[in-house]
Amino acid sequence: MSSHQVRQSRSIERQVAGKPTSDGAGVKLTRVLAQPLQRRLDPFLMLDAFGSDNPDDYIAGFPDHPHRGFETVTYMIAGRMQHKDSAGHEGLLENGGVQWMTAGRGVIHSEIPQQEAGVMEGFQLWLNLPASDKMSAPWYRDFSAAELPRFETEVGVGVTVIAGTSHGVAGAVTREATAPLYLDLHLPAGTRFEQQIPAGHNAFVYVYRGEVRIGGETLPAQRMGILANDAEADGVVIEAAGAAKVLLIAGRPLNEPIAQYGPFVMNTDQEIYQALNDFRDGRLA
Ligand code: CO
Repeated sequence: MSSHQVRQSRSIERQVAGKPTSDGAGVKLTRVLAQPLQRRLDPFLMLDAFGSDNPDDYIAGFPDHPHRGFETVTYMIAGRMQHKDSAGHEGLLENGGVQWMTAGRGVIHSEIPQQEAGVMEGFQLWLNLPASDKMSAPWYRDFSAAELPRFETEVGVGVTVIAGTSHGVAGAVTREATAPLYLDLHLPAGTRFEQQIPAGHNAFVYVYRGEVRIGGETLPAQRMGILANDAEADGVVIEAAGAAKVLLIAGRPLNEPIAQYGPFVMNTDQEIYQALNDFRDGRLA
């Protein structure tokens, strides 16, 4: 018996269909995790899924905009996007790469597609920072697909470990306060994947190809399944009858007040006013 096996799987507490919306200069996307779920899925603040082969849906990108108080994790499944920020960071994010940006006390950045045709598909996750780190110095790193830790289970499930640890493989990024786990799982037909998750951590699965079964319940494509914090469950078992691709995301809740105004996420309204003033007066970046 492998030490990675799960004795009892969490169940799906609730299925959530994302809301189609647009952001930046008119980029079409699906907001999977939105503001009403921030408490329930603490420390995660937002998950956007974008995917289109129509350049009109993405070409304008996200021109200069600010962030303060949290981290953005952009995972590009397909496509090319250029990033530039006021802290002097610049990078090209493409096919299978991840960009991890800690906004901390503030950055102004742009995210602009570098393609005029073809498919652009990916995800942007917002991860909160603890109050003590919200005004820390900005940090940034690009990981190409080749730099991301990856392994295959005995039954052939391909696992990319963007954050946290899975089956003894440490991910690209670790964070002490929120202990985020971020896995991209490629499950061939007829396989299952087990991941241990501490009972107190909030967790969800997002299916972006095919469908999976968790705790006897089917989770279809383009659906998020919030995993119940069952006290007896020591992780999650994900089963795929047909080939499927899913994100598995979990983290330790901060249990701190959340005050959000657009791209600023702080703990109090006062800190939000401060962020707005700092942005207006050019003190944010
Ligand atoms: Co941004």
